[in-house]
Amino acid sequence: MVIAKLLGVLLVLEMTMMSGFWFGAEGLNMGYYMMSCPFAEPIVRNTVTRALQNDPTLAAGLIRMHFHDCFIEGCDASVLLDSTKDNTAEKDSPANLSLRGFEVIDDAKEQLERQCPGVVSCADILAMAAKDAVFWAGGPVYDIPQGRKDGTRSKIEDTFNLPAPTLNASELIKMFGQHGFTAQEMVALSGAHTLGVARCSSFKNRLSDTVDNLDSGFAKQLSKTCSAGDNAEQPFDPTRNSFDNAYFNALQRKAGVLTSDQTLFASARTRGIVNGYAFNQAMFFFDFQQAMVKMSMLDPKEGSKGEVRGNCRKIN
Ligand code: HEM
Repeated sequence: MVIAKLLGVLLVLEMTMMSGFWFGAEGLNMGYYMMSCPFAEPIVRNTVTRALQNDPTLAAGLIRMHFHDCFIEGCDASVLLDSTKDNTAEKDSPANLSLRGFEVIDDAKEQLERQCPGVVSCADILAMAAKDAVFWAGGPVYDIPQGRKDGTRSKIEDTFNLPAPTLNASELIKMFGQHGFTAQEMVALSGAHTLGVARCSSFKNRLSDTVDNLDSGFAKQLSKTCSAGDNAEQPFDPTRNSFDNAYFNALQRKAGVLTSDQTLFASARTRGIVNGYAFNQAMFFFDFQQAMVKMSMLDPKEGSKGEVRGNCRKIN
């Protein structure tokens, strides 16, 4: 009896190993670097941890960078490429100018190239770094499949597909729907705004907009922030470096920073989801990690459709 059970367990284990923990998109799987670079995950994790110990605000930067990577050309590290004399890259689009954390990815890449040259893609490093940043800031722990290759196209004009901070709930539902996300997943992902800041230029439209849903005390706070100029930073919620559900509580108080934040509470289509996450942080964490795994698998370039860059800023 015991032996039969043991054999059963071994069989399941073996089947999982042989399948390489296959996951959704063909080629992406949990054990992708198990043989070729077994310390890939701990190397990225240690690099991220060291960087965040020095500057906790970079957690927000890494998560946002992964999102901006995945929404344009899929998760293929296109956002990491530098412009060249013949090409203006995504990075130099106005929507990406405040991205932060590139040096953390460069640091992890340098170490990985020393350990296992030409093996670990920049797209995978970015996806792992975002996951580590979520956990470091106090958010849910989760695993992401690996095996993304790096793309060779990065064009400023593609970034018009990033959501603008002035969008309303219906527009956000539509835009995220085009990438296969439900309204609930879109709200969960917006919960990433539990970390970090927005600059005045991203929300000053609200200060003159009388129909916008904005608490009058918070409107004064936003005006005060903007009195220091377009680049002045306003935290999305009172706990900018902690991954929690304070962002959703802020939306309930009409203290959301961007139009695209507050609309999630203003719209009847998404208000119930905001209330759910504000009431139940565990539910937010669960939905967030599921949606992040899904986002990390957007249009990956697998096999010969991409390359493993030697330097994340340049194509090979
Ligand atoms: C729903 C549509 C979204 C819109 C319209 C939006 C827009 C923005 C804007 C305008 C900023 C501030 C940029 C600045 O002023 O410098 C920002 C920051 C941020 N966004 Fe989003 N975002 C959205 C969804 C997301 C998603 C899905 C994620 C990640 C999963 C994310 C993660 C972040 C983070 C972490 C920051 C703070 C960055 C920092 O402090 O450096 N956002 N977002």
